[in-house]
Amino acid sequence: MKNSQIISVINQKGGVGKTTTVINLATAISFLNKKVLVIDLDPQGNATTGFGLTSAGEKTVYDVLNGNCNFEDAIKDTKIDNLKIVPSNVDLSGLEVETANENRRAFLLKDKIENFVNSEKNNFSYIFIDCPPSLSLLTVMALVVAKSLIVPLQAEFFALEGLSQLVKTIDRIKIKLNPEIDIRGVLLTMFDKRNKLSSEVDAEARKFFKNKVYQTVIPRNVRLSEAPSHGIPVLIYDKSCSGSRSYLNFADEFLRQENVMESAA
Ligand SMILES: Nc1ncnc2c1ncn2[C@@H]1O[C@H](COP(=O)(O)OP(=O)(O)O)[C@@H](O)[C@H]1O
Ligand SMILES: [Mg+2]
Repeated sequence: MKNSQIISVINQKGGVGKTTTVINLATAISFLNKKVLVIDLDPQGNATTGFGLTSAGEKTVYDVLNGNCNFEDAIKDTKIDNLKIVPSNVDLSGLEVETANENRRAFLLKDKIENFVNSEKNNFSYIFIDCPPSLSLLTVMALVVAKSLIVPLQAEFFALEGLSQLVKTIDRIKIKLNPEIDIRGVLLTMFDKRNKLSSEVDAEARKFFKNKVYQTVIPRNVRLSEAPSHGIPVLIYDKSCSGSRSYLNFADEFLRQENVMESAA
């Protein structure tokens, strides 16, 4: 048994960099010899394909949630040492309707993960959950099981729109379903120095979320968008591009938060 940290990467908007952040943060941490698990909780399966996996004939997170298989049976190797994934595919989009009559359905994922985490089989230090672009059941499940959250914010127009709804949802879950949950940090993504809007979103985000906003900012970088089609994280595709460097810095900053949290305890 291992004391795993469970972190959901969440924002109900699509295309803000959730999956890219999960893939590259998980990879950067696995490079430090820590065991990492990614759970793809998006029916689009972008994290799955981003690691070069297909779900054809494989057990997915959907099979775990509907009781077709044990959690550990859905854990797959990736090409990266220390990094495994529970894949997803479009089947997952049926879950909401199929579980409509279950009253504990918000706890489905939590029950499965905790059961595994508390068993002898678990040796993961970090479990990252890649959320779908919505505030529906799947995202609620990810909020119920997570101990903390990373919120990627695209440094573009409309970035802050919808954030109050997200914060309200998190607060509601905190009161009713998961008192431990907290935003660990907000990550600005697709930042473009030449675009005044990027700096404006940066300033607004820091005004609203204060020191929760990471110092590291992820620039807009074409290598980051090319990597998924090769089925590898950008940290392997082109380890010296600006996108890779920024995600390595981010992983550093993310891990340093723990030293601060520990010394405060
Ligand atoms: N910093 C970045 N620079 C350039 N393209 C990016 C960056 N981050 C993500 N992308 C690309 O933008 C698209 C959306 O990113 P993604 O991580 O899939 O967002 P989400 O998971 O929030 O929907 C993808 O095609 C991805 O490759
Ligand atoms: Mg995604």
